[in-house]
Amino acid sequence: MLKGRSLIDPRDFSVEELEEVFELAEKIIKSPEDFSKMCSGKILATLFYEPSTRTRLSFESAMLRLGGNVIGFSEASSSSVSKGETIADTVRTVSCYADVIAMRHPLEGSAKIASLYSHIPVINAGDGGHQHPTQTLTDLLTIRTLKKGLSNHVIGLCGDLKYGRTVHSLIKAMSRYNNNKFILISPEELSIPKYIKREVLEKNNIPYEEVRTLEEAMDKVDIIYMTRIQRERFDNKEEYERLKNSYILDNKKMSIAKEDAIVMHPLPRVNEIAYEVDDDNRACYFKQAKFGMYVRMALIAKVLGVI
Ligand code: NCD
Repeated sequence: MLKGRSLIDPRDFSVEELEEVFELAEKIIKSPEDFSKMCSGKILATLFYEPSTRTRLSFESAMLRLGGNVIGFSEASSSSVSKGETIADTVRTVSCYADVIAMRHPLEGSAKIASLYSHIPVINAGDGGHQHPTQTLTDLLTIRTLKKGLSNHVIGLCGDLKYGRTVHSLIKAMSRYNNNKFILISPEELSIPKYIKREVLEKNNIPYEEVRTLEEAMDKVDIIYMTRIQRERFDNKEEYERLKNSYILDNKKMSIAKEDAIVMHPLPRVNEIAYEVDDDNRACYFKQAKFGMYVRMALIAKVLGVI
């Protein structure tokens, strides 16, 4: 039963509960008009303390396409946070006005705190460099649809694996399905946090290898998941400048990839995928963005208990 539940970490929902969300998303994709009044009278509050394009707009369009309404803010400076209000007080107040909250905040753990004080479900739309579970729902629905299921894949994760919250959440989620293997491609300075290696990969006996170049992975992967170097999370700007061009996926590198591999990216892209790759039919990142809206429609409907 997902009614009333918050989603803070990708493992908050069981594999079966995730399946419920994906099956509903598939029904919505087939006939969206059947769902266009499902949330009428309901309100989604989007509390975004950090910049966003896709996540906020896809949440908002998801709610509008379900016939619901949206309130919220897209920068902390336009809310009472700028007057010193705490997250706890903000969500207790917003709980009086809305039926579900989607929140993005630069501090790790902020969404968890919000869920402890909220009387309505809180959906984590990104907490600092920690987790981003709805991007993971997006990624899973994309993989499930385009690669026929969530098991038996070699997944290459490339770029900023240290600060990239989408990568942390995706590893957590994909580790629950059978026979997946990860190739982690990053500069040493941006390698995956130790807690993910120990608590997720090693604890669950998930095979993985760490490499420093894309070339070492390209012919092996079924999915190549590119990420941007997360400039805003660096304390040292010189280090960012030194690492920002670490990886660029181009047609030359694509020429050694499997025929049926797919290229994913949570977006925004900076320069880690050359524009020429967009014309390759294995490039799936804009399809992925569309899956994101449908899966958020399904998630909202489920946590509100309207279906
Ligand atoms: C990601 C994020 O915010 O973590 N963007 C998104 O939600 N699609 C990835 C990123 O910002 O690099």
